[in-house]
Amino acid sequence: MKHVAIMGYGTVGSGVYEVLTKNKEVVSKNVGEEVNVKYVLDLREFPGDPVSEVLTHNFDDILNDEEVSVVAEVMGGIEPAYTFTKKCLLAGKSVCTSNKALVEKHGAELLAIAKEKNVNYLFEASVGGGIPIIRPLHTCLTADVIEEISGILNGTTNYMLTKMSVEGADYDEVLKDAQAKGYAERNPEADVEGHDPARKIAILTSLITGKKVDFEDLYCEGITKVTPADIAYAKKMGLAIKLLATSKRIGDQYSIMVSPKMIGSAHPLFAVNDVFNAIFVKGNMLGDSMFYGSGAGKLPTASAVAGDIVEAAKVTGNTGHFWTEEKLELADISNVENKFFVRTTASAEEAKAAFGDVFVMDDVEAGEIGFVTEKMTEAAYKECAAKLNGIISMIRVEG
Ligand code: HSE
Repeated sequence: MKHVAIMGYGTVGSGVYEVLTKNKEVVSKNVGEEVNVKYVLDLREFPGDPVSEVLTHNFDDILNDEEVSVVAEVMGGIEPAYTFTKKCLLAGKSVCTSNKALVEKHGAELLAIAKEKNVNYLFEASVGGGIPIIRPLHTCLTADVIEEISGILNGTTNYMLTKMSVEGADYDEVLKDAQAKGYAERNPEADVEGHDPARKIAILTSLITGKKVDFEDLYCEGITKVTPADIAYAKKMGLAIKLLATSKRIGDQYSIMVSPKMIGSAHPLFAVNDVFNAIFVKGNMLGDSMFYGSGAGKLPTASAVAGDIVEAAKVTGNTGHFWTEEKLELADISNVENKFFVRTTASAEEAKAAFGDVFVMDDVEAGEIGFVTEKMTEAAYKECAAKLNGIISMIRVEG
């Protein structure tokens, strides 16, 4: 029998418990022996919940129990998750997590400890919720140089942008709705300011390059400034606004950005709506591939953690997920090229004087025009924008 422990009985933790108990038969079959949840760690009491039978308030119960070989860390946050994870790995227990903040910040160190102790630190649920992306990148797409990863990596903001587009609702209204539905994180800032997808694209890039990427070093813009007027312009052009996290290979460097982008119907991410996530991966041999599914929520995320538990319980030794503390050299985003959609109170003539040939729309919002530039670098955009008064907003246009 394999004994596992779950640290944290919040949304994801209770989901992991549910998957492991409801699907005990299939989980045990796939491991090759019975899988038993021996402990659930949480400071709270859960009267009437069957989890009470295995509930502990003491981390040492898990740490000191030699029968427990796999631990799910689904507490979230850095502490005490970091200390507990490190102690479990040092004690020779594998740890499976959905905690993207911890993976992004201390992943290199925790992976090194797992390797040294010949156990595993697995984090499928940290990116894309229930979508398998970590293991495919690590075990399948291993003969390719990955040229690009672009993703809709945040369910909350994709839900909000979809609702703004379909219903014409404004930002504050859709944020309240997303919070009421339980999509937004406790602090919505991580979602709406783009820090959550920035952490996820940092993890994916670390995984494919073997070097550490700090999300604080990335260019990151959220959706707080996207308005119904921006969406009206996008619709008029047959485009959708999506919060994209992109990591593109330029020589030996990667240029990584999180920002709202206008994309056309030919783009593989165009039709990814609501709380769904999708990750587009381009390999130099494979060409294009897409991973699509439920990117957030209790059971999709728990399913990914439980899948890692099966993997950790089944394999012997370390599976080799790894990146080092050496920082990946990031390409300067000044050289990244896009088209730019700009709204301004200036005239079409003034826009053309500043930006050259542009495509102008003057019948969407009163008292302003919107225009799309030719493809240009970020640096060139800044230079041109400095020559134009009355800029209201700018959104990048992919392609
Ligand atoms: N708040 C995140 C999202 C949860 O909306 O995608 C999953 O990481």
